[in-house]
Amino acid sequence: MARVLSGIQPTGDLHLGNYVGAIRRWAEQQAPNHFFCIVDLHAMTVPYEADELRQGTRELATWLLAAGLDPRTATVFVQSHVREHTELAWILQCVASYGELHRMTQFKEKGEGKQGVSAGLLTYPVLQAADILLYQADEVPIGADQRQHLELSRTIAERFNHRFGETFTVPTPTFPTAGARVMDLQHADRKMSKSLPESGTLLLSDTEKATEKKIKRAVTDSGTEIRAGDDKPGITNLLDLLSAVTGEDIPTLEQRYAGAGYGTFKGEVAEAVNAFLRPVRDRRAELADEPGTVEQALHEGADRARAVAAETMAAVRDAVGLLR
Ligand code: AMP
Ligand code: TRP
Repeated sequence: MARVLSGIQPTGDLHLGNYVGAIRRWAEQQAPNHFFCIVDLHAMTVPYEADELRQGTRELATWLLAAGLDPRTATVFVQSHVREHTELAWILQCVASYGELHRMTQFKEKGEGKQGVSAGLLTYPVLQAADILLYQADEVPIGADQRQHLELSRTIAERFNHRFGETFTVPTPTFPTAGARVMDLQHADRKMSKSLPESGTLLLSDTEKATEKKIKRAVTDSGTEIRAGDDKPGITNLLDLLSAVTGEDIPTLEQRYAGAGYGTFKGEVAEAVNAFLRPVRDRRAELADEPGTVEQALHEGADRARAVAAETMAAVRDAVGLLR
């Protein structure tokens, strides 16, 4: 069975896109050799507040458990709790080249024209490679924006194996299916994202009332028909959203809402989204009242992760010539 590892940053609130496009699938497909890492060290590469990082890490862990990741099945852990991540990252920094890190699109986008860019932002993809290679992951579920980082992880693994002997599994990225992309409610041509204005982004932490309001205010198109098409980007997105949360296909939905007005349709989309998120939101509220549960899960997760990571590190230390 394939070993799976993915990572998610504890920055900003989770939105419906994160849930539908990533976390829900992780939960549905989870198995004992799946690892989910909350990458707090990656969140330190850009300016941040210490309290917010701590709070965000706890929050994200709570949402992951609320979404159904079960610590008795998969391993959910915090990156900084397993020191092998930073240890391997250093060694891999001596395998990766300055030039290839400098060419990374994310570094250019986040760093260009800014004062005081951290060295960590440059070496970010090497830490990511360490996250993956430590666990000998076969598959890494990611969003399309992470394609280049995964390519670098593969390059580093191959170069290391070539130079020091077979040590790492070369990982393969996996991408969500096309239907898993949730679009912004205010900018129909852009995917829902934490960097876009609040009003077009459905947060898991929103109240049902707030969710309804955002959906009712979603951009629509001219005309009155409820159907998908290139000339109707707004309604198409709402139909996709409804389809994603109900599992029904677009033609079925078009038929059901034939003749209904935009207002009625949006009301029903809001109801469906809220019904879809209700169990996760309820569970998250319960977990917030029993903080020990999350802490315990992370503690056990780190122990399990560390056992695997330590085994890889022992082989790496020998391979690269560090004295035992
Ligand atoms: P990010 O919020 O960009 O750090 O993404 C975390 C995870 O959520 C990644 O696996 C992304 O592919 C996924 N994701 C982010 N935004 C969306 C979206 N609008 N639709 C579907 N998946 C998304
Ligand atoms: N860089 C990834 C992102 O921003 C997060 C990440 C860190 C990750 N380590 C990882 C993803 C390892 C997959 C595997 O989304």
